[in-house]
Amino acid sequence: MDKLIVHGGATLRGSVNISGSKNASLPILAASLLTDKEVIIRRVPDVSDTNYMVQIISALGGEIERSSGTVRINNKEIVDTAPYDLVRRMRASICVMGPLLARTGRAVVSLPGGCIIGDRPVDLHLRGLEALGATTEFESGNIIITAPKGGLKGAEVNLRGTHGPTVLGTDNVMMAAVFAEGTTVIESAAAEPEVEDLANFLNALGAKIEGAGTRRIVIQGVTSLGGTEHTVIPDRIEAGTFMAAAVIAGDGVVLRRVCREQMVAINHIFEICGHKLIYNEAGDIVTIHRGENPIGAEIITAPFPGYPTDMQAQMTAVFATTPGISVVKDTIFPQRFMHCAEMKRMGADINVDNGTAIIKGVKQLSSAPVMASDLRASAALVLAALTAKGTTAISRLYHIDRGYEHIDEKLLQLNAHVERVKE
Ligand code: EPZ
Repeated sequence: MDKLIVHGGATLRGSVNISGSKNASLPILAASLLTDKEVIIRRVPDVSDTNYMVQIISALGGEIERSSGTVRINNKEIVDTAPYDLVRRMRASICVMGPLLARTGRAVVSLPGGCIIGDRPVDLHLRGLEALGATTEFESGNIIITAPKGGLKGAEVNLRGTHGPTVLGTDNVMMAAVFAEGTTVIESAAAEPEVEDLANFLNALGAKIEGAGTRRIVIQGVTSLGGTEHTVIPDRIEAGTFMAAAVIAGDGVVLRRVCREQMVAINHIFEICGHKLIYNEAGDIVTIHRGENPIGAEIITAPFPGYPTDMQAQMTAVFATTPGISVVKDTIFPQRFMHCAEMKRMGADINVDNGTAIIKGVKQLSSAPVMASDLRASAALVLAALTAKGTTAISRLYHIDRGYEHIDEKLLQLNAHVERVKE
């Protein structure tokens, strides 16, 4: 296992390219299962989550070639059972269920295990697929879902759960509905840019989907799909993470290949804290200047276009040394505060109670050996270490490698003093 050694105190400057979105790539790779024609997907980040998805697709019978960020897939013949030893490693594998069901009439996928940010139910996924006529059974930890003899039928379904819409649930139902006879309407759909990118990919294959990016998505069933070439949207969470690094330890850091429209909620919080974000005309390059007198803020996470839960840990690292009191409430994953305990070991003043963290900014954190836990919590620890006094060792780096493409190389490019070492 690798660990990241971070020597605090370096000033970040220069520019990096933001990678393609992990959370758009995963459902788009899964959606390739819907067609027997060749698809080419560009800007797929080289992270372990996309590597798992590529392995799952080839285990299902797909022929895959991957060279740097471009993935070429031919799914001429596929089987309906996803391999447990791969599926169990990544919750997002659940998004092969919809395309397998639509393409083969059946899907056998392991129930995802829970994970450190909290319970990860799939009841909304199943509600949607059953509304299209599928029947579900559970056997030795697998979901076995089967389409009726005559195929799936279009239906109206509301996918809202107690914590709001479901991103991958919306993806699964949208993909399953592509071949369903008639019209499917998804109410309370997730409106994340990654859902919209998936819909754009499906429409490029020949699907008929309208309304993606809103709470109401309408899918007209078609009988077959062709091939296409698609470039994945930028990763707005990676961009937000590097923005946080820039305000914590930077002086005029430039991020390229971003998308301003997808960053409105993220930009807003940085700006009300007093930091400056200067975008170019096209909105795909941003320069970040730390504010002279930054102040704290209150974040309440919400489904897009609200503040993303995937950014709250990183902002907690910003607030840890921002003068004043800040509040972070996660309404989507109320247990997603593993990073706080580790930051407190670095001297942060944080109280977590009932899904809310109250952070009182301190002058400086100090280094301590800390342990990564989940993807975004681990990124937050790297951010906290950038200005901590001394050298911080962050172990279990594989958590970060799941969703950040070569994070150590990008930080080095920005003049950070970091090194990846074998544990
Ligand atoms: C996606 O996960 C993202 N992952 C997550 O990013 C992100 O945190 C999450 O959406 C919320 O934005 C990918 O896109 C690969 P949900 P997903 O279904 O789709 C509850 C990261 O760091 N729920 O939108 O699995 C659920 O418990 C990852 O990149 C049900 O109750 O999340 C949660 O409280 C972490 N029943 C809320 O809905 C269901 O059937 C939102 O979950 C499904 C979900």
